[in-house]
Amino acid sequence: MSRLVVVSNRVADPRKTAAGGLAVALAEFLNNTGGLWFGWSGKVVESAHGGRAGEAELHTHQAGPVKLVTLDLSREDHDAYYLGYSNGVLWPVCHYRLDLADFESSYIAGYRRVNQMFARKLAPLLKPDDVIWVHDYHLIPLGSELRALGCRQRIGFFLHVPLPPPLMFAAIPGHDWLMRGLCSYDLVGLQSEADHEHFCRYIQREAHAQDLGDGQWRVFNRTLRAGAFPIGIDVEEFNALAEGAEARELYQRMKREYSRRKLLVGVDRLDYSKGLPHRLRAFRELLQKYPDTHRSATLIQIASPSREDVTAYTDILHQLESLCGSINGNFGELDWMPVRYMHRTVARARLPGLYRASQVGLVTPLRDGMNLVAKEFVVAQDPADPGVLVLSRFAGAAEQLGEALLVNPYDSEGTAEAIHLALQMPLEERITRHQALLASCKRWDVHWWCDSFLDTLNKSQAEESGTPWL
Ligand code: ADP
Ligand code: G6P
Repeated sequence: MSRLVVVSNRVADPRKTAAGGLAVALAEFLNNTGGLWFGWSGKVVESAHGGRAGEAELHTHQAGPVKLVTLDLSREDHDAYYLGYSNGVLWPVCHYRLDLADFESSYIAGYRRVNQMFARKLAPLLKPDDVIWVHDYHLIPLGSELRALGCRQRIGFFLHVPLPPPLMFAAIPGHDWLMRGLCSYDLVGLQSEADHEHFCRYIQREAHAQDLGDGQWRVFNRTLRAGAFPIGIDVEEFNALAEGAEARELYQRMKREYSRRKLLVGVDRLDYSKGLPHRLRAFRELLQKYPDTHRSATLIQIASPSREDVTAYTDILHQLESLCGSINGNFGELDWMPVRYMHRTVARARLPGLYRASQVGLVTPLRDGMNLVAKEFVVAQDPADPGVLVLSRFAGAAEQLGEALLVNPYDSEGTAEAIHLALQMPLEERITRHQALLASCKRWDVHWWCDSFLDTLNKSQAEESGTPWL
């Protein structure tokens, strides 16, 4: 059997808590399959002159069945590749936030430099029959860089973030180069049918791609496949966590503490794509319009710190703090605070207890590739008395979780109405919706995602000729 080599910017020890869909999903399936996981160590090294360090050393660490190989980044590379092009340009544009993009022209050189370094460091570790799976927007050109070094293995790519429509994607400096990079893979996987359609439209319009049918395309003198592979969670692993002592203990404690109140829960990275201020405004709307919710509803919002060196993230932190403060100030009572906001990461083993103790799960991103929290919330519910999922129609998950209460998060009144409906929903309707949602989470779980992607990648022909697309 071929060895699986996974490459992503963020690498996490599969046995520890991570906040971020990519690390959580990859850790879940690598724990089962084993393999090599290559990426950034998360460390930044300062060189003597404060700029680029010499060639990065590799760190190797065996974590159960997974061999982790990581490298540090120099300050200059980190700032241009990670903070700059990846999180200052690609992340906002892919989440439809052109207004937040920082189109600094020097970033792209750092992005290319780090992708080249990843390829240079990874290539000597590869075996001829390895299957290579590259993940996310940080590493789009990695496939073509590996090909340029003579790697002939099958290489697949999965984009965890949304792919915007062609006209918006074209706002990215270097978009045509990026798309050529994407087309150098044997398989390109997207989260949703909408993202897949955007990819097809772009290559047809801008690169005159020829549709060969069955997900195959002829473009830039080569053949590749593309398709939607919605990512899921490890349902069994999450159920096992829910049965664990930490989750049960938290569940009991929350049930005791909130015995006379209904809980609404939000769990997110603190990211502007998650629509947290919009969510808080919808909750304020609910309190304003329905006084019966006073004292009877509490919103627990947990937001883990993320990318704090990017200005847009500090702005969202301040907005959130000020909204929570004003809602509590205006509506709070001596014995009831409407919002409990925590700026931290919760241990993964406790999460199912928190979800299960909540009557409403609020997953209301303005744009999201998938959103695993939505699926975790569903799986953690008690099937005999389940909570209700309020889900943004702009999350990739909405394509599979249509039985949730779907909302437009920009419309705070509409979202408040949906929350009110969720709080009032009769048991029978909750059970019917939950059964359908749970079936979808089980059908499109992390194993389905991994198997269907890798099976399709195995079907695709490894490129035989040189590197005509470079
Ligand atoms: P993203 O990939 O944009 O972070 P997802 O919802 O797809 O969004 O994945 C987030 C993952 O990180 C989920 O598995 C979730 O449980 C976890 N996570 C997010 N925020 C927190 C938090 N505050 N504490 C613990 N885990 C978190
Ligand atoms: C999203 C991205 C991942 C990223 C994660 C956490 O899930 O798709 O690629 O790893 O956010 O962000 P960070 O910048 O901390 O890796």
